[in-house]
Amino acid sequence: MSFSVTKTLEREVDKLVNSYPQKRSASLMVLHAIQDEFGYISKDAELWAAEKLDLKPINIHELVTFYPMLRDHDSGKTVVRVCRTLSCALAGSHKLHGHICEKLGLDKQGNGLQRTKDGKFGVEFAECLASCGTGPVIMCNDDFYESVSNEEADKILKEYDA
Ligand code: FES
Repeated sequence: MSFSVTKTLEREVDKLVNSYPQKRSASLMVLHAIQDEFGYISKDAELWAAEKLDLKPINIHELVTFYPMLRDHDSGKTVVRVCRTLSCALAGSHKLHGHICEKLGLDKQGNGLQRTKDGKFGVEFAECLASCGTGPVIMCNDDFYESVSNEEADKILKEYDA
């Protein structure tokens, strides 16, 4: 996908940047706004953000590659993140991850991000998603799901496939 700034995104970013005494304070919010629009932050988007924030492109690239919630490549329209940290692992998150992967035609044993051929889904493990008492926990983009069974995962995937 090429990076072409929409008027809505430009307005939103200008508003964010002008909300702070120092433009750089809006960096993460600007990057999230870009990701919400395009699904990830491309090199061209990094350059554009750097210009908007009066920063060097490397400053933006460092943020994009440091924070796990930011993506520098197309990871799929819906990114499913399955918590694999201890509490969720004990509650069955590895089996749930395998089930989700199988359902989407991905490798059950896959470890890193896997993307479906049609680009609709990306699936990856995540570290603690901060709801350890209600595992297994998953996130679909910014939506949070707790105590997810295989059957519930099927329903959730169906909703995002619509
Ligand atoms: S261990 Fe999964 S949310 Fe904390």
